[in-house]
Amino acid sequence: MRIPFGTISVTKESRKLINEALDSVRLSSGRLVKEFETKFAALTGTREAVAVSTGTDADILALAVLHDFGARRGDEVIVPALSFVATGNAVVHAGFKPVFVDIERHTLNIDPKKIERVITKKTRAIMPVHLMGKPAEMDAINKIAKRHNLFVVEDAAEAHGAVYKGRNVGTLGDLAAYSTYIAHIITTIEGGIVTTDREDFAEVLRSLRSHGRACKCKVCVMNCGAASYCDKRFKYGAGSDIRFVFERIGYSCKMNELEAAVGIGSMTNYRKIIAKRHANLISMIEKFQKFSPWLYTIKEEKHERIGPHAFAIIRGEKAPFSRNELGLYLEKAGIDTRHLFSSMPTQCPGFAYLGHKLGDFPNAEYMGDNGLHIGVHQDLGASHVNYFIHTVEGFLREKGLAF
Ligand SMILES: Cc1ncc(COP(=O)(O)O)c(C=O)c1O
Repeated sequence: MRIPFGTISVTKESRKLINEALDSVRLSSGRLVKEFETKFAALTGTREAVAVSTGTDADILALAVLHDFGARRGDEVIVPALSFVATGNAVVHAGFKPVFVDIERHTLNIDPKKIERVITKKTRAIMPVHLMGKPAEMDAINKIAKRHNLFVVEDAAEAHGAVYKGRNVGTLGDLAAYSTYIAHIITTIEGGIVTTDREDFAEVLRSLRSHGRACKCKVCVMNCGAASYCDKRFKYGAGSDIRFVFERIGYSCKMNELEAAVGIGSMTNYRKIIAKRHANLISMIEKFQKFSPWLYTIKEEKHERIGPHAFAIIRGEKAPFSRNELGLYLEKAGIDTRHLFSSMPTQCPGFAYLGHKLGDFPNAEYMGDNGLHIGVHQDLGASHVNYFIHTVEGFLREKGLAF
């Protein structure tokens, strides 16, 4: 048996839309991207959604927008030490300094108790990550943000379908950034999307994704219709062409029509896919309990619903084997594994310039040395879950532990 990490369902709807787009010869961002944005906003329950090229770009833009709302280059953004490296990279690319806070071992998310001690006059935002789809402790985070007048930008890359205290993740801060990369639940193959309730943020996001130009319309007539005349175009200032007026430092990260077509199609089966993945995840969580204290995972608590992105495997401190031994055993048995990321400030050399040293973020570093994750996707079912559990039993037996 094989348990691949991810899968993709390119639906009939996607194929139809891809062909329509190809026939129309209108392939860069246009009508389908707009439709994808409208549908994504409706699904998460936000007023606005702005689609971009990758989840990393979504993180970057969701932060870069703050430069129009009082932030300055070099200001600080608080992020968890443990995440996929894109979170930290995005802070730097948006023109800010990442300030890292350790995580909690039982949630994998930023430890709210440690946030206030790193707030300075330069802090502008907190960017919690809902790692492995488990919602970060947003009530505590929002309270701190309110007390210190900070923005909250959720990195919801892995949290499609996650719910926190009855509210969708992605609607809990000022802005949220999702990845729609192929391994994620709603996918555009490569892609990302920023959601927000604020129209003024959305306008700046649309400008940022297109070089910072003065065009911010929700729907661009030049990109969407056969009649491509824009009556705003030459009415900017002294008759300048609005498309060549650059109001801010921008990026070039639009989503294209073919990607949006895949995304729109992937939303047609969204509820079914979420239900299947969630059932796989909960079944794995339940069956995995017996491996404690050698191995453990995160739990779904009463106040939340985990977005079923993947299943976390964490080696217990006293386990008589290494994470890599387990990983190799699973790989040889046909089960794809991924590391559970690493402590960005101390285990990713790109952040060495900040001067942190190993030991500064013990919980994040522990996950960097002892964590794995595997897929829970919609092409898996009970037989795969059982195969995974039997494989782990076999490994532990081989290590002299009774299973
Ligand atoms: C937490 C987190 N943030 C950001 C990203 C970046 O997304 P992308 O790979 O689409 O750039 C990812 C990637 O999966 C992620 O896991």
